[in-house]
Amino acid sequence: MRADHRTTHRTTPVRPPERSTTRGASAVAHPNIALVKYWGKRDEQLVLPWTDSLSMTLDICPTTTGVRLDPDAEHDEVTLDGVPLAGEARQRVTAFLDLVRERAGVSARAVVDTANTVPTGAGLASSASGFAALAVAAAAAYGLALDATALSRLARRGSGSASRSVFGGFAVWHAGPATGTATDADLGSYAEPVPVGELDPALVVAVVDAGPKAVSSRAAMRHTVATSPLYRPWAAASRDDLTDMRKALHRGDLAAVGEIAERNALGMHATMLAARPAVRYLSSATLTVLDTVLQLRRDGIPAYATMDAGPNVKVLCPRADADRVAAVVRGAVPRGSVLVAGPGQGARLLSEGG
Ligand code: ADP
Ligand code: DP6
Ligand code: CO
Repeated sequence: MRADHRTTHRTTPVRPPERSTTRGASAVAHPNIALVKYWGKRDEQLVLPWTDSLSMTLDICPTTTGVRLDPDAEHDEVTLDGVPLAGEARQRVTAFLDLVRERAGVSARAVVDTANTVPTGAGLASSASGFAALAVAAAAAYGLALDATALSRLARRGSGSASRSVFGGFAVWHAGPATGTATDADLGSYAEPVPVGELDPALVVAVVDAGPKAVSSRAAMRHTVATSPLYRPWAAASRDDLTDMRKALHRGDLAAVGEIAERNALGMHATMLAARPAVRYLSSATLTVLDTVLQLRRDGIPAYATMDAGPNVKVLCPRADADRVAAVVRGAVPRGSVLVAGPGQGARLLSEGG
């Protein structure tokens, strides 16, 4: 701005104060893996699920996201792993930021720079770490003071599973009330930490294919709810799984936790296989790992498998057995890569300010 602006006849408006033109924040969040799955929305717009779900946040593969307000920009600019986002992925971020802007009463567009350390769209929960990090960074950049519950609700609007990555360790995402107003449902659908007993778990992640899935989680669950005759029975069984899972976690019974997680995940994949036409994420390499997990159990190691919307397998086992499990899984899928995770922290702000 020119120094003599007060004496100059001006036709253009004065810019807002410098401080508000440079607001920015960055945040980090980790992926979470559901032990009782979220699969199916009762409200697409508000991202309200049909069922409660429960997960473990990982201590590996963080997403780091920076959000900087740019009042001069006409559009949001979003870069993922150094590549400008376009199409649906960019639209998803912009729609999310619109929500934040509306609540903050600030219309400025933003420059978003995000980096995943997990492959994007591979069934390794990049949308969970991605939108949890974005929720924390965007709320701070736009000046919204939100507690963890409100951040979880907000993250949910970007990706349902992101509601759980706001918290570390084990978290349950409440579906929210099925009756009442949309506002009641929105307010009642958030994640919170789950109390657990003595438990020292590891998740051995077998990455058999890091490529992006052909059908997004969002589209696949929509199709499953609409066409699969197995969807309702699975959703009903999932309610019991959640009750049993809470008890197993409370008493620190890792074998029971694994057993429930495995049956819940296989049931979810059964709903997809029964959809018309079928959605199949499981590959021959997935089945190879599942065979290996069975063999590990026969050999006395309490290892249990879960799979998300992709072919990759996560094997739950005691931390003391993780190295052995990882070695056996590596041997079974030599072309894959194997990572070992433990329970990690919730999403947090890294920096805030100008
Ligand atoms: P995943 O199994 O990786 O969670 P999804 O199909 O659920 O796969 O979601 C993948 C989509 O999530 C991406 O196509 C993109 O739209 C979004 N996404 C992933 N990572 C990020 C990120 N860091 N920031 C914003 N959006 C992201
Ligand atoms: C199989 O949270 O990725 O991983 O809400 O449409 O973004 P959107 O879907 P997303 O679905 C995750 C599905 C799952 C199970 C789970 O994480 O609970
Ligand atoms: Co996802």
